[in-house]
Amino acid sequence: MNHATFAPRLLTWFATHGRHDLPWQYHHADTSDIYAVWLSEIMLQQTQVATVLGYFGRFMDTFPTVQDLANADWDDVANLWAGLGYYARARNLHAGAKQVADYIATHGHFPQTTDEWQNVRGVGRSTAGAIVAMGVRGRGVICDGNVKRVLTRWAGIDGDITKSATDKVLWELADTLTPKDDSGKFAQAMMDLGATVCTRTRPACVSCPLSDDCTAHKDGNPTAYPVKTKK
Ligand code: ADE
Repeated sequence: MNHATFAPRLLTWFATHGRHDLPWQYHHADTSDIYAVWLSEIMLQQTQVATVLGYFGRFMDTFPTVQDLANADWDDVANLWAGLGYYARARNLHAGAKQVADYIATHGHFPQTTDEWQNVRGVGRSTAGAIVAMGVRGRGVICDGNVKRVLTRWAGIDGDITKSATDKVLWELADTLTPKDDSGKFAQAMMDLGATVCTRTRPACVSCPLSDDCTAHKDGNPTAYPVKTKK
């Protein structure tokens, strides 16, 4: 594996094959953008892009700002969420909106760092990295399920990904591979590659920009990764 060529290869692929037209991407870097990225990331945690699109649009129309969401009645939030499933996400989002609105009232701007975002209800380490990379446009590192699948295959990491030792290795690798600039593009490219090419059961290695540098592909066993203990 060549660490130095990973991001350039991925980003070249992303320019032609990645998703560039999602409504929460590439607005101007004004503050409402951060809210849109956060909302989309929460919706995307357990739901596919195609399903999220309609819900995202209705949410933004009804609650265009984080303050609108913070001040909303729970019933109205729940009604708009109906169909997305996993109601805990909506509960956390609503509670998180109150936290973020309070933060903005005090600081005059959205939280800017992954540490601050991880204090927001419903936002874990990878979601915090995505919000910072794609919303704040600072440097953020993501390492969600898609990324872990790509990285275990590429690097041939065969430790159990539910073990903290393996998790640590994966986060360090994700950090090493993430460029200093434009980590938002890199994050979106990783998620797109994982969702459309490096899929769980039928990886399309012929379409992958990393395949000739990928340990699992060279060994002919991409679906052997990631290793995960059955619960
Ligand atoms: N899953 C989580 N975040 C995502 C994103 N920004 N694009 C596509 N899939 C995702």
